[in-house]
Amino acid sequence: MELRLAEVFESIRAVQAKVDEPLCAYVYDLVALRRHAAYLVSTLPEGCELFYAIKANSDLPILQALAPLVDGFEVSSGGELAWVRAHFTDVPVIFSGPGKLDHELSGAIEQNVDCLHVESLNELRRLAGIVSQTGKAAAVLLRINLTVGNLAETGLMMGGKPTPFGIPVQQLRECLEWLRAHPEIRLRGFHFHLLSHQLDAQAHLQLVAAYLTQVRRWCDEYELEIDHINVGGGIGINYRQPEQQFDWTAFSAGLTALLRNDGLPGIRVRFELGRYISAACGYYAMQVIDIKRSYGKTFVIGRGGSHHFRTPYAQGHSHPFHVLPIDAWPYPFPRPETSNDRVSIVGQLCTPKDVLAFDAPVGTVRCNDLLVFPYAGAYAWHISHHDFLRHPHPAQWYLSVE
Ligand SMILES: Cc1ncc(COP(=O)(O)O)c(C=O)c1O
Repeated sequence: MELRLAEVFESIRAVQAKVDEPLCAYVYDLVALRRHAAYLVSTLPEGCELFYAIKANSDLPILQALAPLVDGFEVSSGGELAWVRAHFTDVPVIFSGPGKLDHELSGAIEQNVDCLHVESLNELRRLAGIVSQTGKAAAVLLRINLTVGNLAETGLMMGGKPTPFGIPVQQLRECLEWLRAHPEIRLRGFHFHLLSHQLDAQAHLQLVAAYLTQVRRWCDEYELEIDHINVGGGIGINYRQPEQQFDWTAFSAGLTALLRNDGLPGIRVRFELGRYISAACGYYAMQVIDIKRSYGKTFVIGRGGSHHFRTPYAQGHSHPFHVLPIDAWPYPFPRPETSNDRVSIVGQLCTPKDVLAFDAPVGTVRCNDLLVFPYAGAYAWHISHHDFLRHPHPAQWYLSVE
């Protein structure tokens, strides 16, 4: 995952030089995004597919950059489906997520969704009602909440324990019996998304291996004919130690060996990654408005805040950042600064929760310098409470030229 820091910093500096008040901005590097996605696709073994979970970042330029590279998009709401279909009539789409409405289920069928990931027997029954009204067949995966032995928990667990997601494995038999009596709904396979924030390539391989083992047993026991398994998303970004990222090279090599030795003939393996595809292409930049000492701690207050970039607070980490020195200081009095210090970087919101980094070491940071947060391309702008306090939205632009 290569970051093009020089190009990104240059473009932020160029924009900052033209504005007459402190800058806050999102910058997305589409060149890096395309390279990264192409690399992931090229290193996945034969028999695998890569979908992009657009909830991570559904901006149109991001989707346009990815559409020619990935096998399709995963959506989790009728809104995401409508957004994708408004711009991409033919891209394969899969639809997952809890609490789907009837009109979302019927919309999915009308919009030629490749596969619906069903979350409960009740959802299956509602789908059957829609299928009987429309006369169009539906293809589904059952999303199963599986317990896996020795599953190392990450910071965000969606399964492997009581959660609202998926069908608990104890209810599988009943769902399969119901499906047998409803041939208008075709079971194409199983969907798993037990966790996000996975940083350990070997642990992720073990998880995929456990899915394969489980599905092989179900196919034998229930005499199923399925064509793919969706192993979800969940590969993480190491925000705390950004130099130690998920080892994709080891993962793809391990996966190649796993599928060669233990793959299920005729059954494809589909990934629906969000964070790991788009996080590294995004940057959030904020210019420093004030620097304060308060009871022994230093606070750096930037233009913007968690209403633009909620990722660090949402995940409970101190986000890594770069300081870009800006020489101009437009006032006739001394410029606040701090050196060789530990700082908290906060935004403009009237809440102590508006924290982007804490206890973070800095060489020197001065008022008017720029702070640039990398890994802000996924679950960043799109999960933030944009209109809290009615501050303006940040500037936003895309780097697309090599
Ligand atoms: C069902 C499902 N698939 C895929 C994803 C994407 O996960 P990630 O961004 O961790 O890859 C999510 C995220 O919540 C999800 O719920």
